Amino acid sequence: MSSRNQYVLLLLLFCLLTGCKEQEEPKFTIGFSQCTGDDAWRRDMLRGMQRELAFHPEVTFLYRDAKGNSSKQVDQIKELISTGIDLLIVSPNEAEPITPVVEQAYQQGLPVVVVDRKTASSFYTAYVGGNNYEVGKTAGQYIGALLKGKGKVVEVTGLPTSSPARDRHNGFLEAIHKYPGIHLIQTISGDWEKKIAKQKLTALFDSIKGADLVFAQNEVMALGTYEVWKEKDLTPRVKIVGVDGLAGPFGDIQMVNDQLIDATLLYPTGGEEAIRVAMQILQNKPFTKENILNTAVIDSSNARMIKMQTDKILSQQEDIERQQQRNDDQLKVYKNQQIILYVLSGLFIISIGLGSLALYSLKENQSINKELKAKNEEIVGQRNKIQEMAEEAQAATESKFRFFTNISHEFRTPLTLILGPIDGLLHGKSDHLFVKQNLKLIQKNARRLLWLVNQLMDFRKLEGGRMHVQASENDLIAFMKELMLSFEPMAKKRNMEFKLITPLPHLPVWFDANMLDKVFFNLLSNAFKFTNDFGRIHILITADLENNKVQIKVKDSGIGMSEVEADRAFEMFYQANTTSAKGTGLGLPLSKEFIDLHHGEMEVSSEPQQGTTFTVSLLLGHKHLTDAEKVPDKIKVNELANKAQLEDASPVWALKESPESKSKRILLIEDHPDLRHFLQYTLQDTYQILPASAGQPGLETAYENIPDLIICDRMLPDLDGLKVVTALKSDIRTSHIPVIILTAQSELEQQIEGMQVGAELYLTKPFSTQVLKESIRSILTNRQLVKDYFTHNEASIVPLLSNPAISKLDQKFLADFKKIIDAKLSDTNLSVDYLSREIGLSRVQLYRKIKALLGGNVNDYIQTVRLNKSCELLQVSTASIADVACQVGFSSATYFSTAFKAKFGISPTDYKNHKGSLKTEVV
Ligand code: FRU
Repeated sequence: MSSRNQYVLLLLLFCLLTGCKEQEEPKFTIGFSQCTGDDAWRRDMLRGMQRELAFHPEVTFLYRDAKGNSSKQVDQIKELISTGIDLLIVSPNEAEPITPVVEQAYQQGLPVVVVDRKTASSFYTAYVGGNNYEVGKTAGQYIGALLKGKGKVVEVTGLPTSSPARDRHNGFLEAIHKYPGIHLIQTISGDWEKKIAKQKLTALFDSIKGADLVFAQNEVMALGTYEVWKEKDLTPRVKIVGVDGLAGPFGDIQMVNDQLIDATLLYPTGGEEAIRVAMQILQNKPFTKENILNTAVIDSSNARMIKMQTDKILSQQEDIERQQQRNDDQLKVYKNQQIILYVLSGLFIISIGLGSLALYSLKENQSINKELKAKNEEIVGQRNKIQEMAEEAQAATESKFRFFTNISHEFRTPLTLILGPIDGLLHGKSDHLFVKQNLKLIQKNARRLLWLVNQLMDFRKLEGGRMHVQASENDLIAFMKELMLSFEPMAKKRNMEFKLITPLPHLPVWFDANMLDKVFFNLLSNAFKFTNDFGRIHILITADLENNKVQIKVKDSGIGMSEVEADRAFEMFYQANTTSAKGTGLGLPLSKEFIDLHHGEMEVSSEPQQGTTFTVSLLLGHKHLTDAEKVPDKIKVNELANKAQLEDASPVWALKESPESKSKRILLIEDHPDLRHFLQYTLQDTYQILPASAGQPGLETAYENIPDLIICDRMLPDLDGLKVVTALKSDIRTSHIPVIILTAQSELEQQIEGMQVGAELYLTKPFSTQVLKESIRSILTNRQLVKDYFTHNEASIVPLLSNPAISKLDQKFLADFKKIIDAKLSDTNLSVDYLSREIGLSRVQLYRKIKALLGGNVNDYIQTVRLNKSCELLQVSTASIADVACQVGFSSATYFSTAFKAKFGISPTDYKNHKGSLKTEVV
């Protein structure tokens, strides 16, 4: 359905719903004040009103019953007026008490319809009721005729203060006066009530028992009269005439018919008429003010017929009432249905709304879905592409790894072929120390290489899931003791406390001996590596039989690890930064993997400077192992690779105490002992070598000794090599010293970094000793050239101050140096001590620095400057030789002359007299 069609439908529905509604009639409220409601006549009046009201559903009908109490009726009338009624119907109890409130209402403009009994004034809108005077009169006439003008009569009246009682009495009196033979022997007030009438009749019975007829002013009092005479059992009973003419089985028509009474006067209730008149008033239609209802006599002559007619009327009225009830029910059903219809319409509207919304959403969804589908396809395409790329990358990585694995594997053959012959050579006859030392170094490093290759192979195997436990039952204690044997010589040599602490003499455990050999070898190697001489390394083995576990702790008192390092200790390729533990980053992760394969656990706890404890937990028994993880026979541990790590194969180099006589001194900062020893051994014939195993001691040696050149490793345990160079180059004491950085990092960027901090050369490992030697020689030669230039230029510092071969710091140093000397030239006390104080260097440091930069010693330089200056003075001044000597700081003219002649080959006097010329330029 299109949205336009939906709107048309909604409009139609709206018209239908509003069109169904009847034309709205003005609504009215009628208040009805009844004097009493509990007798049949009054009930008949109310039913008549309700029947008529059924035609006026727009009317709200408020009914009040005063129960025969006039003051209560007054209050009820007031209350009805206050609710805002549009019209008041009053059936007064007594005339006088009710009159004021009715008058007031009327005068305020409220229409008032008086029914049956009247008020004491004519201030009302309309009256509906019988002519009571006429009723009394008709009764009197009928009685006169019935008694044939002769007899005794008793009258039972209604409430004397109510108008019908008075009017009926007056009418009755008028009629019987026409019959002189008729005597009204007693008038008794029954107040319209059977009970009161009966009481009074009974009380006065003796005086009235001779009466021929009783005229009772209403139906109930007539019945009471009958009952009194019946109770007295007096026959024939007195004749009785009543008033009202009520239909129905208990009405007085029936009583006439049943001959309980003789006749009754019709006195209609006027219920229907009262409503009819009220509606005419409310609808502003013409109406009659006085609506008098007719009366008639009902006696044995017509009672039967009237009863039939009234019965018929009653049944018709009942039919009408039933019909009305049905109408009411229908109306209720209609109203309910209307509500349902409204609700359904509402729901329909809502569902149309929701339907439209759903339709809209559906369309939106469709378009979103379309978009999503397109995007999805795009994503799938991209994903496939990425997948393809990933697969390609994976394949590339795989092939790289394969290559890497293969090549690692291939390394083993040449390494074995290197190791084999070395073994032979070492055990051979050659005694040549130098050869043996070199062979040992080659052997140790080839074994180290083999060990590394083996680690890589294990890593690849683990990665590929190709490594499986091959466990057999072994005595863990014996295994550990045997393993410890390898470390004992080292522990002894380094004065370390190395022991196994366990209460167990033996402990059978299922494990793969090859794997655990690697694990504990690695843990012990680390412990020895990071524990200083005189330190402690303990292995603690405890069995927890309850939990079926064995715990092996390797505890050292070494340098420990930071929290971060300990946390990441088992991370593959992680290398701690702050310690000297620059390993491969593979050992610990591999060990952990091996323990994991054993379904065990491995943990580390460490504290810097306190030590490290590795704890390995293994399960006892073999239930945790699959059949495939068990082997029946013990496997021989492949010891070669591991032991290579440990074996004290370091050659004992014949390192000489470098004699000071060697002119050039080189500081060698290198932490790797073998490399340090090897370099020292290589260079010691040419240079005096000052060895240092870390950055800090290296720096201290440099400051103290002011070497001619420094070789510094890039990676040092305590300080970064670059930091060492920076420190050297920014310290006035060492800024002039050329530095060679040795490193394993060959990246161009790292080389540039090295140069940026001021290093003269960046040599990457492996380097040839020849290249190193040549580099040292060339750097030192270059320095010499600068110094030679200085010497050949008659000790002039000025050109050096812009020489790019000299650092800015050193240029400044030279400028300061020159300035201090120039300023103090005439002072005989200008000395090395004075200069070193001014510059802030020790005598030796100053001496070495000047020697390195200028080639000569400080005193020589001062002397040269003095003599050069004296030349200048001799040429321009007339001063005496003695004066000149004094001006350039010579204490004696003789010494000046000697020195002058020694340097220039001419005496100052001759020079002054122009007997010679000098090559010297003035500085
Ligand atoms: C009912 C009644 C009638 C009588 C009328 C007079 O209450 O007693 O029997 O005709 O009132 O007001």
